[in-house]
Amino acid sequence: EKVVLAYSGGLDTTAIIPWLKENYDYDVVCCCVDCGQGNELDGLDERAKYSGAAKLYIEDITDEFCDDYIVPCVQAGAVYENKYLLGTSMARPGIAKKLVEIARKEGAVAICHGATGKGNDQIRFELAIKALAPDIKIIAPWRDDKWTMDSREAEIEYCKAHGIHLPFGTDQSYSRDRNLWHISHEGLELENPANEPNYDHLLVLGVTPEKAPDEGEYVTMTFEKGVPTSVNGKQMKVSDIIRELNRLGGKHGIGIVDIVENRVVGMKSRGVYETPGGTILMEAHKQLEELVLDRDTMNAKKDMGNKMAQIVYEGKWFTPLREAVQAFVESTQEYVTGEVKFKLYKGNIIKAGTTSPYSLYSESLASFTTGDLYDHHDAEGFITLFGLPLKVRAMKMQEVKNN
Ligand code: ARG
Ligand code: SIN
Repeated sequence: EKVVLAYSGGLDTTAIIPWLKENYDYDVVCCCVDCGQGNELDGLDERAKYSGAAKLYIEDITDEFCDDYIVPCVQAGAVYENKYLLGTSMARPGIAKKLVEIARKEGAVAICHGATGKGNDQIRFELAIKALAPDIKIIAPWRDDKWTMDSREAEIEYCKAHGIHLPFGTDQSYSRDRNLWHISHEGLELENPANEPNYDHLLVLGVTPEKAPDEGEYVTMTFEKGVPTSVNGKQMKVSDIIRELNRLGGKHGIGIVDIVENRVVGMKSRGVYETPGGTILMEAHKQLEELVLDRDTMNAKKDMGNKMAQIVYEGKWFTPLREAVQAFVESTQEYVTGEVKFKLYKGNIIKAGTTSPYSLYSESLASFTTGDLYDHHDAEGFITLFGLPLKVRAMKMQEVKNN
């Protein structure tokens, strides 16, 4: 029988290969799902095979990640606890979907992942697998009584004892998760919220605002029906837009977030996220919506954005609720078409103009000159009715006080 292992090439998932063979007697089919994690994939094939894997799949889903997960979340304005742009959370359902696809192709009976028993990722992987393949067994070594390794040293020893000698260091680093949208950092000094992050040691995608150039830089972006279509006049697919914005954002110290967040499993956890391009893209989309959405829709959309963030964070992607929220959001995007210009400067995104053929902004309405569309006298009657309930109440209170 076969198991499909979500493989990253790191020490944890490498040690899982001999462990699965020893404890479950499965053939291990490794599957590394590439969501744009950069150069982390070098040498993966040899490592997996050397560690006893029967097969390794490297599946690039970067474009699908962008089109099916990132774009809907950008359109929704999904941000968790006002700060976290959900880079890890958004990638999990796409990874799980690919794992299930490979499991079907290989006729595997189980899927194994290396997420710990204390985090959110186990929930996201497992809810997605349950929704897509309720018959497939899930193995989570970190929660398994047969898993006895409790440190990197122990994992290295275990590998050695099984004839696997790999150049893994025993030195602890941050716990990181990287894809095209972001990189997350947890652990080390971050575990105490009283500590300032050691940014020089920590940052991967960019620099701090202090180290950013003294000269600002303009960037323009266009959207069609809420989908980003170009950067600085060049038409590109979404993944290339994010790559280019990552470069610009990283250079100018944009999108570094230090947060204590509430995990689904109950604990607070402190992390630093770098989302340089994503931060610019989200801001640009919001900026355009400001111009083209009416007030009531904008208001309702804000609630839906929070709902979407909750859904994505909690791993409930493959649910009717997510589909319904996404459908609502999509129907608001019909006229989110136009161009946004920003100046990037030392961690700041400074607005430099927005245009849209569907702009609801009317200069003649907003300006102080009187026109046909708006008669100042109408405002008087409007305020009389708009203020009626609070006036009635105030009169009653006066009456009560005087008795
Ligand atoms: N706390 C973030 C989240 O729940 C990031 C998780 C990072 N995951 C990881 N395997 N290092 O989405
Ligand atoms: C993990 O525990 O595997 C990473 C952190 C998280 O999932 O929240």
